[in-house]
Amino acid sequence: DEEVYKYYADGEWRKSTSGKSVSIINPTTRKTQFKVQACTQEEVNKVMEAAKVAQKAWARTPLWKRAELLHKAAAILKEHKAPIAECLIKEIAKPAKDAVTEVVRSGDLVSYTAEEGVRILGEGKLLVSDSFPGNERNKYCLSSKVPLGVVLAIPPFNYPVNLAVSKIAPALIAGNALVLKPPTQGAVAALHMMHCFHLAGFPKGLISCVTGKGSEIGDFLTMHPGVNCISFTGGDTGIAISKKAGMIPLQMELGGKDACIVLEDADLDLVAANIVKGGFSYSGQRCTAVKVVLIMDSVADEVVEKVKSKVAKLTVGPPEDDCDITPVVTESSANFIEGLVMDAKEKGATFCQEYRREGNLIWPLLLDHVRPDMRIAWEEPFGPVLPVIRILSVEEGIHHCNASNFGLQGCVFTRDINKAIMVSDAMESGTIQINSAPARGPDHFPFQGLKDSGIGSQGITNSINMMVKVKSTVINLP
Ligand code: G3P
Repeated sequence: DEEVYKYYADGEWRKSTSGKSVSIINPTTRKTQFKVQACTQEEVNKVMEAAKVAQKAWARTPLWKRAELLHKAAAILKEHKAPIAECLIKEIAKPAKDAVTEVVRSGDLVSYTAEEGVRILGEGKLLVSDSFPGNERNKYCLSSKVPLGVVLAIPPFNYPVNLAVSKIAPALIAGNALVLKPPTQGAVAALHMMHCFHLAGFPKGLISCVTGKGSEIGDFLTMHPGVNCISFTGGDTGIAISKKAGMIPLQMELGGKDACIVLEDADLDLVAANIVKGGFSYSGQRCTAVKVVLIMDSVADEVVEKVKSKVAKLTVGPPEDDCDITPVVTESSANFIEGLVMDAKEKGATFCQEYRREGNLIWPLLLDHVRPDMRIAWEEPFGPVLPVIRILSVEEGIHHCNASNFGLQGCVFTRDINKAIMVSDAMESGTIQINSAPARGPDHFPFQGLKDSGIGSQGITNSINMMVKVKSTVINLP
């Protein structure tokens, strides 16, 4: 049981010379489940050098061949869905069915990216000079998209596989090399996923995966001169990264406080179903979870009752049993959530259920009559705890939404399309869903956060375009 999972470099699995490891604690048992290598800075340097060399040859590999390898990796990934899902269950307590879905969705994402890549990268532009004043038609500009070099991918714990491949696949199809630093919780799932890419037969050194302590290799990776692009999903560490990173393109998605605005004319059953799904799936540990419900007072009682009866039906327990609510990822996360709940209690929020916690497992909780002086009105619990704020006008709801530091997604429920568009336009968030809970997918849709929720836009097409630069050749005729 002292096995320490190896890291992946130069096309092979290696032990770190540090002789140290990082433990992954199972959120359910709260015991060490796996160990991974604690890589050294020297090992990171070697990975970067190998990536740089491999990238040059990869950029010259025909686009259709790059796509072919990605399709192969996607198929292998789907074949390995069971063992990878097992890791997700043990490392991040993702409910069994959702764990399998994450892997299948990841395979689909890789294939779609390969297809999208051959289309959009297979196309360049031709410009002629005589459209600009003072020019004759004697210059022809040929522009195409070329890779950036080495892309550093840092996914979060809640989708260690899916949010890894959403960075890996666009990087590779575009001709970049890729270095992955997985989250500690989810690292073994990510290593298994990496193994699928290894089996597909990508060139040595082109892709690698280094594991270890953030304190040792975190800043070292993000500030490494060999890195030409960073794609990060996670918490506010992203803000620190953006301040320290060099002059390279950054793509970041850093959490949210997604508001759900409910108008008086909404379909209240639809609202209740989406509040429960949006607020409590994967125990609220999604950037796109509904994190505050802003509801017109006249329909609030009815919606709260409907939500309460649905919450009562949620199953609570281990991810192996495919329960709806499973233990949150770490003890410190559970403590943080509890802090928000206690603050709301002291300040007079109405508890729709009894607050209950055992270890990292927190029972789903709807907090009614939340007011702006409560921390939970603004902070992101990343847990199964959802505040309801009653509003007297649509403007009040929009105002609360826009006063947040975050601006990832939001949603509005109404039967009136004109009102829906008006509210959508007024909400300062990257995406507004009309009559459905926020969600990133389908994975080719643009996905972006405003304010502290991030920079750049993701989604398959946008990620490919972000991981290339335009290169021009101008033909000058005599
Ligand atoms: O929390 C990560 C974010 O990307 C959410 O994705 O698919 O749960 O909407 P999704």
